[in-house]
Amino acid sequence: MILNGVFSAIIILILSTFPVSAAQKKPVYGSHGAVASADIIATRIGLDILKQGGNAVDAAVAVGFTLAVTYPQAGNIGGGGFMIVRTGNNEFYALDYREKAPAAAHRDMYLDENKNVIEASSTLGYLASGVPGTVAGLYEAHRRFGKLPWNKLLQPAIEIAENGFEINRYKENSLGYRYEKFLLFPATKAVFTKNGEKYHAGDLLVQKDLAETLKRIRDKGTDGFYSGKTAELIAEAMAENNGLITEEDLADYNAKWREPLEFEYRGYGIISMPPPSSGGLVLAEILNTLENTDIGRLGHNSSAMIHLWVEAERQAYADRAEYMGDADFVSVPVAELISKEYAKQNFYNIDPYFARKSENVHAGLKQIPEHVETTHFSIVDENGMAVSNTYTLNGSFGSCVVIPGTGILMNNEMDDFSIKPGYANMFGLIGNEANAIEAGKRMLSSMTPTMVTRNDSLFMIVGSPGGSTIITTVAQVLSNVIDHGMNIREAVEAPKFHHQWLPDYIRYERLGFPVDVLNNLRNMGHQLQKTDALGDTHAVLWDNKHKEWTAWSDPKKNGQALAY
Ligand code: DON
Repeated sequence: MILNGVFSAIIILILSTFPVSAAQKKPVYGSHGAVASADIIATRIGLDILKQGGNAVDAAVAVGFTLAVTYPQAGNIGGGGFMIVRTGNNEFYALDYREKAPAAAHRDMYLDENKNVIEASSTLGYLASGVPGTVAGLYEAHRRFGKLPWNKLLQPAIEIAENGFEINRYKENSLGYRYEKFLLFPATKAVFTKNGEKYHAGDLLVQKDLAETLKRIRDKGTDGFYSGKTAELIAEAMAENNGLITEEDLADYNAKWREPLEFEYRGYGIISMPPPSSGGLVLAEILNTLENTDIGRLGHNSSAMIHLWVEAERQAYADRAEYMGDADFVSVPVAELISKEYAKQNFYNIDPYFARKSENVHAGLKQIPEHVETTHFSIVDENGMAVSNTYTLNGSFGSCVVIPGTGILMNNEMDDFSIKPGYANMFGLIGNEANAIEAGKRMLSSMTPTMVTRNDSLFMIVGSPGGSTIITTVAQVLSNVIDHGMNIREAVEAPKFHHQWLPDYIRYERLGFPVDVLNNLRNMGHQLQKTDALGDTHAVLWDNKHKEWTAWSDPKKNGQALAY
């Protein structure tokens, strides 16, 4: 009896100390390297590059250009993004290749004479695009860290664009979703419809003009995009269709190296993206706040756990709206926002039993300074060099404009600016002065390519699409591993929730939350909204027990991870 009692006590202790996941879902694994992306063709090409002796940056370049062909809703050369690179010497670099507002852009460019927002002007058509950064970004990453020749890395994408690839059911759906918009622009209609009809699974999607553009980039590097024929074609089409991007805008574009945003979470080093992304800052605010309690002990996705998360998110997104923008233009109080003291103050402002109303939660720093469909891939190679890359056209298929003669699908990233103070963008985010439109400025982003270290060794690579929900998705995947002991597959697949201050409700994944958890949250005063899916994570995690990399791609959007 006594022994039995002791035994039970030990079991209870073990269960509460090491949270046990219900199912042991296995990720892919391998001791050499791994690639996780949203598309099986791109993942295979990335892995091939690693096997041929390319490093993680080489693989990232090949994956980036391939996704521009095979995953056109977000993979791109007409958009922009962010990349975190880790070298084999454990040095971290953050590359900003975010789009910029064209020189002719101005604060009220999306407002009519009564200062009302002109519907869809920042999301559809030529005026919606910022100056693309992807080609400059991938080129710069390769210039600094690449090993294999540039032209070799573009070749697979060129061949797929030229010869076509087979559309699967997932791609049929995503093309179908934007079909009506494609018909508005002749060059888009020519590429993404079959003579005006919808594409179906089994059809071949061939992109001859895009292949020619990629060849110019292969042969001339950034000059193949930012000057010469490609730049002329972009500027000409823009001028004819009331767009703003000129040849000078393209010639002026530069990718920039930034100081990575670094902080610690429960002894793990977190390395993420600084402004012009809000990703690293909001991630730090949320995790720093949660660090004030033992989240693991609350039980994964219990109502008590979700409540604390949501209250931390509420504050962080209020700060995002007030303080965050392109730090080349406005002063962002980075050190204050990521300080542990500020997080502690925010933690103690949370009532453990009742939801606050967002209208009563304001940007919280005491001293306000004076002025103040995306896709991710994670790659690691044999020498521990790693890439965490998120890039985007913003909305699915961006502005829906293909520039005639180039096959380039353009972004609608201008919508990420605060086009009018307090006006919600396509992700329901509002903003203020810090993120107002200015010529040459980069629009605030939520993209959060992130890496995690433990004892100075690479531990995890993670990122996701999802607009404003990117940051909370990345935060939950990190916490699922660190606080709840999940493997990477379990962490990626676990149901997600999201709160962003305004609108004032929790979004939660339809199939993941028991009704009693939802009822508890309602009783605490939270508003809830069901959604199909949050995020689409592609991540790599070091398995220290087996001394190998494990990887997983969220199956939601047909992603695929491979390791060897
Ligand atoms: O930079 C940003 O925050 C947005 N342009 C990201 C867009 C996005 O994630 C859309 N995909 N689901």
